[in-house]
Amino acid sequence: MGKPVIWITRQLSEATLDRARRDYEVIWDPADKPGSAEDIIAMSARVDGMIPCHSEHFSADVVAQLDPRLKIIANHSVGVDHCDLPSLKARGIVVTNTPGVLSDATAELALMLMLGAARHAVAGDQLVRSGQWQSWSPAMLVGKQLSGARLGIIGMGGVGRAFARKARGLDMEIHYHNRRRLDPEAEAGATYHAELDDLLAVSDFLSLHCPATPETVGLMNAARLARLPKGCVIVNTARGNLVEEAALLDALTSGHVGAAGLDCFVTEPGGNPAFAAHDNVMMMPHVGSATVATRDAMGFKALDNLDHFFRGEAPPDQL
Ligand code: DGY
Repeated sequence: MGKPVIWITRQLSEATLDRARRDYEVIWDPADKPGSAEDIIAMSARVDGMIPCHSEHFSADVVAQLDPRLKIIANHSVGVDHCDLPSLKARGIVVTNTPGVLSDATAELALMLMLGAARHAVAGDQLVRSGQWQSWSPAMLVGKQLSGARLGIIGMGGVGRAFARKARGLDMEIHYHNRRRLDPEAEAGATYHAELDDLLAVSDFLSLHCPATPETVGLMNAARLARLPKGCVIVNTARGNLVEEAALLDALTSGHVGAAGLDCFVTEPGGNPAFAAHDNVMMMPHVGSATVATRDAMGFKALDNLDHFFRGEAPPDQL
């Protein structure tokens, strides 16, 4: 029997593409464009497996039209909100993700956004870059200090825990809300809040690290933003739809939220241009996991999952 045929939808790392080509017959387009619904449906008749990213959407409608040849979707992402899991399960298509390997990279970006938002990195960069920095003043770009401040974390999976670990090194006091309390070793002195509202009330800084599910979409709405202490800095490297953007914009305008660091938006690509009016908002284009080491690790994890599946074993990260 020949090698299984797989479709790699996007520009994965060279090491990933090399390994994939060694073990599989690979269909891959260097144009690096997101696969449309039509692409996914057409490709499902040509391949045994796919490595898509969160830019390819497997809605219930798309899943209903997939060819029975497609047996496995080995996502190159930890988030799987682009996949309608119940429909895929009903069709018997195996779905995997890449947990663990992107926690540090994403936590590092969250750290950058938290520091950048707290210390006016966007306004400062603009001031120097534009040549408009004409005098120094002790009142210039005065920011919010992290040491000693209380950091609220929503979601203590791999990324949330990595972020807590790094923030502890900055002398922040860690508080968290999670579906279940962590064991004492994983908690490492952090304070658990069973009620989200209780976490919000003590968060000088707030960082989101939960998946987008029907329970969490719109989590940070106007009422919850109002629970935060005035001047709270919000960081989102998880999914854009966890935050009601109109409510966050209102809170930034009123000053109730002091600053924000956003790597995720409701509309991607593109983001929300209304945030650009706020120079206390630092933005990145959904690149939390974009480091050289992590791209290789994500690609290899997706391939490990395919390898297990095609050997007739359960993939380690099967959902
Ligand atoms: C993930 O892995 O979920 C990241 O958001 C990139 O897709």
